[in-house]
Amino acid sequence: MKIRPSILNAPLEEIASYLREFENVGIDTIHLDVMDGHFVPKISFGDSLIPMIKRLSNLKVETHLMVTNPCSQIEHYLGSDTITFHIEAEVMPHRLIEFIKSKGLRAGLAINPGNVNLLSDTLLKIVNQVCMMTVNPGFGGQSLIDLALDDARFLKERIRRLGSDVEVLLDGGINDKTIQRASFADAFVVGSFLYKQDLAESVALLRAKYANL
Ligand code: DX5
Ligand code: ZN
Repeated sequence: MKIRPSILNAPLEEIASYLREFENVGIDTIHLDVMDGHFVPKISFGDSLIPMIKRLSNLKVETHLMVTNPCSQIEHYLGSDTITFHIEAEVMPHRLIEFIKSKGLRAGLAINPGNVNLLSDTLLKIVNQVCMMTVNPGFGGQSLIDLALDDARFLKERIRRLGSDVEVLLDGGINDKTIQRASFADAFVVGSFLYKQDLAESVALLRAKYANL
C-alpha cells in the first residue's frame, strides 16, 4: 500500500522530524499541497519546500498544484519527482503532461469531485497518475465524499479496460475507516489522520485495515 503523507495540516515546526519519521515507517514519497489562494481559497507552500525536503530526507516529492494556469508556474516545480495539476485549471492538459514527462518527471492529473468525465481516453493513455480528489480541494481535515469514491472506483475499472497502468491516487479524507472502502486504489494521500496520534501507530493502523480487506 502506498501512503503519501500530506504536510498541509502538519505542525510546521515539526516538519523536519516528520520527514525522518516518514522514512522510518517505510514511506518513500511525500505529497506537497501547493495552493495559490485563487484556484482554492488558501495559500499554502511554494517551491522552496522541495529543496528543503530533498536536503533533509531521501523522500521523493509528489507536488499537487492547486493553482490557476499551472503551465505558467510549472518551471518552478521541476525539482519534484511527480507534478500533478488540476485538469480544471489548464486549457491544454495534453501539452503540459507531455512537457512534464519531457523533463523526466511523472505527470499527474488531479480531478475535483464530480469532474471525472473531463478525463478523456487520450489523456488516460499518456498520464502517469490520476489524483482523484475525494474532498473539495483547499483544506485538510475534511470528510471523504462517497460519490467521488464511487467515481474513482469506476475510473479504476475504465483504466483496467484500457490496458493502461495509470496510478489512481485518492486525495482527501482518508483514515482508518474510509480506507476500508477504497481498496481498489493504488495509493492514498493521508494528511490530518497522521497527526492525530503517534505517526507509526497511524500508519500501522492504516496498513492493518488495508491488508485485511
Ligand atoms: C486538500 C489536499 C489534500 C489534503 C489531505 O486540498 O489536496 O492533500 O491535504 O488532507 P486530509 O487527509 O486531512 O484530508
Ligand atoms: Zn493534495
